[in-house]
Amino acid sequence: MRFLNFLLISTVLTITLLTTSTQAATFEIQNNCAYTVWAAATPGGGRRLTTGQTWTVNVAATTAGQTGRIWARTNCTFNSNGTGSCQTGDCGGLLRCAVDGVHAPPVTLAEYSLNGFNNQDFLDISLLYGFNVPMEFSRPSIGCTGGIRCAADIKGQCPPKLRAPGGCNNPCTVFNTGGYCCTSSLTCERTYLARFFKDMCPNALSYPTDDQSSIYTCPAGGTYGVVFCP
Ligand SMILES: *[C@@H]1O[C@H](CO)[C@@H](O)[C@H](O)[C@H]1NC(C)=O
Ligand SMILES: *[C@@H]1O[C@H](CO)[C@@H](O)[C@H](O)[C@H]1NC(C)=O
Repeated sequence: MRFLNFLLISTVLTITLLTTSTQAATFEIQNNCAYTVWAAATPGGGRRLTTGQTWTVNVAATTAGQTGRIWARTNCTFNSNGTGSCQTGDCGGLLRCAVDGVHAPPVTLAEYSLNGFNNQDFLDISLLYGFNVPMEFSRPSIGCTGGIRCAADIKGQCPPKLRAPGGCNNPCTVFNTGGYCCTSSLTCERTYLARFFKDMCPNALSYPTDDQSSIYTCPAGGTYGVVFCP
């Protein structure tokens, strides 16, 4: 019986492996900001990037649907052991963020899911946790449905109710109501606060059910660029 189970499982695994080829991806993260950021990647960890510095993160896609996030932290201090804190984007006080790392808002997030439906990678820039640093997430490749750029002056034009040290909070973070977090219905409130992020960065995810226009795809495998302050 156990052997039969094993046979069944290995057959299913073989079929899965034959039908979905999983490809690794590389993320070249660059700090173009005039200030130092502490880049974070889960998986990947974290690193301080002064102006102009880059950091390459390789993600081995061992499982289809491997997801991850990349973001910038600002105004951090870390001791020699790699523990400390950041004004935005802090991941539990660690320089090298853990895989399921938190990311304290407000923080602009690059998100990806590798080797998904039809052998495609899925990517987005999310403002669901607010905005701290302008970002571009792209791959110059035939077959990608777009590169994503969110470089509007969201921090400078942030509505007073959403202002936070180092950035601009999403209304869901501030008010935590069904209307702003889209938990009471699929459509979020059509208020000025709810529209603010969408109007500033139409290509980014700005409320939880906003994914039709804001998720991009590329053929699986390749090198993506994440630029802070593009
Ligand atoms: C780093 O960790 C070691 C061992 O836990 C500890 O003794 C040391 O005080 C720590 N250093 C700092 C700067 O916190
Ligand atoms: C860092 O903090 C200082 C003081 O609060 C602030 O003026 C500055 O804008 C912050 N830097 C960034 C990149 O947010």
